Amino acid sequence: MSIAFSVTRSNPARAATPLVIVALAADAPMPRALVALDKACGGGITLAFRRKDFTGAKDEALLLLSPGAGPERVLLVGSGHGDVKGLTRAATLGGRKATALGVGRAQFWAEDLEGDRLEGAIAGLSLGSWEFRELHSPVPAAKRKKALSKVALHVRDVRAARAPLAAGVAVAEGQRLARRLAMLPGNICTPEFLARTARDIAKRHKLGVKVMGRRDLQRLKMGSFLAVAQGTTQDPKLIVLEYKGGRRGGAPVVLVGKGLCFDTGGVSIKPAPGMELMKFDMSGAAGVLGAMEAIARLKPKINVVGLVGSTTNVVDGDAVKPGDVVRASNGKSIEIQNTDAEGRLVLADVLCYAQRYRPQAVVDAATLTGAVVIALGAVAMGVMGNDQALVDEVLAAGRRGGELGWQLPLFDEYKEQLKSDVADLRNIGGRGAGTITAGLFLQEFAEGMSWAHLDVAGTAYSETDLVVMPKGPTGTPVRTFVEFVRGRAR
Ligand code: BES
Ligand code: ZN
Ligand code: ZN
Repeated sequence: MSIAFSVTRSNPARAATPLVIVALAADAPMPRALVALDKACGGGITLAFRRKDFTGAKDEALLLLSPGAGPERVLLVGSGHGDVKGLTRAATLGGRKATALGVGRAQFWAEDLEGDRLEGAIAGLSLGSWEFRELHSPVPAAKRKKALSKVALHVRDVRAARAPLAAGVAVAEGQRLARRLAMLPGNICTPEFLARTARDIAKRHKLGVKVMGRRDLQRLKMGSFLAVAQGTTQDPKLIVLEYKGGRRGGAPVVLVGKGLCFDTGGVSIKPAPGMELMKFDMSGAAGVLGAMEAIARLKPKINVVGLVGSTTNVVDGDAVKPGDVVRASNGKSIEIQNTDAEGRLVLADVLCYAQRYRPQAVVDAATLTGAVVIALGAVAMGVMGNDQALVDEVLAAGRRGGELGWQLPLFDEYKEQLKSDVADLRNIGGRGAGTITAGLFLQEFAEGMSWAHLDVAGTAYSETDLVVMPKGPTGTPVRTFVEFVRGRAR
C-alpha cells in the first residue's frame, strides 16, 4: 500500500500522533526546534545522547515512549553525516520501523526539510515501508498490524514543499513497482504480465504503448530473440512505452531492459540449488517499467522510450541447442554455444529495434552475468559503453540516486574471445572477463548509437537483509535511469 504524504508547519511536540520519527545527524548538538519535543518525552532525547544510547550514527534507531500529551512515541533515527544520502537512509529505516510497529500514522522531522532533502525523506519513508505480503494468507484480524498509510512531514515552507513531495513519491512509486515485479515468481510474472503492467502504466499516465508478440518478432526477423523464446509456449513480448515530454520529433533517450521471467539456462541447464533466484532475471525490465512510472509522474521535458524484451528461458524438445546458428535483425549471424547466455541474445534484437528512434542515448540494464557478481559483488553494478561521456553521465546519475556503479573496459582486444568458426560471432567468450565479453557482444548491436550498459546481476536482488530493506529486490536500476533522464532534461 502506498503512503498518503502531507506537509505541516506545526510543532511536533504538540502533535496528536502515535509516532514522530526524528532524524538526527551524528556529533551535532540537539536542534533547538526539538527542545519542546524533548520536554514532551521527559527529556528522553537529551538523555539518550548523554548516555550514548543514541549518537546519530548511520542505521541507529532508538524508540522513546512519551508519557504526556503530544506524540505517543518518538523514534530517533541516525542520519550519519546528515547529508541527503544519510537523511534518505534514516527515513527509510524510520519507515521500516514504523511499519513493524504497526502504528498506521506517523510524522517525520529532520532539520531543513526542503528540496532534495525533502524528496529523499519521502522516497525513503515510502521504500522503508515496502513489504511483499500479497502471496501470503491474510493475517487474522486480531494479529494484523496497521500498514503505514499516512505520514506528515515537518517543513518550514508548505508551498515550496509541493514539488519535492511529488518527486519523492514519483521516484518511490517507480521503485516499489520494480521491486514487486522482481519479487513475483515466474509463474505469475510472465511476459504477458509485464505487458499488462506496461499497458496499465500507459493508461494511467497517457503514454504510448505497443506490445509485439512472436508473429511480430518473426516479421521483424529477430532470429536471436526468437531463438531464446522457442522453448516456451508463452508468447514472447517486445514492449514499447513512449513518454513524450520533449520537443515533437526530438531524439529520445531509450531505456532497454532484459525481461527474462525465468532463466533455467535452457539446454545448457543451470544447477538446481538456488535456481529459484532466476525469477529475478527480469530486473532490467522491472527497472525500465519502474523508471517509466516515475518519469511519467515527474514529467521531465524530454522524450523517453522504454523497451523491454521478455520471454522465459526453459527446456523443451524444440528449444534452441548449443551449436545452433541464428541471425539477428541487423543481419549478424550468431553461434549459440551456450543457451544460458540468453539475455544478450534477447537484447541484441531489442538494441537493433532501438536504432529506429535515432536516440540521443541508449542505456540498457540486465542481470546479464554471474561474472559481475564475482567482480563487484552486491555493492556496485558493472557499467560499460561505447561513449565515455555517456558512461560518466550514467555513473554520476547512479551516485545521485544511491546506486553505485563501476566501469569495466570494452577493449577491442577482448573481441577475440567472441570469434566463431561458423558465424559472425558466438554468444559466449570463454572463462575470462565474462562481464566484458557480454558487454562487447551487446556493443555489436548498438553500432552508431551512444550506448551504455548496466550489468545489475549483483545489485538488483539482495540475498541478505540490508537494515533498510528486507531480503529481495532492491529496485536497482530505477534510480539510475530516473536520475539520468532528469539530468538530460535539465
Ligand atoms: N541470468 C544469468 C546471469 C546471472 C547468473 C545472474 C548468476 C545472477 C546470478 C545469465 O543469463 C547467465 O546465465 N549468464 C551466464 C553466461 C555464461 C553462460 C557465459 C553466466 O553468467 O553464467
Ligand atoms: Zn542465462
Ligand atoms: Zn539470464
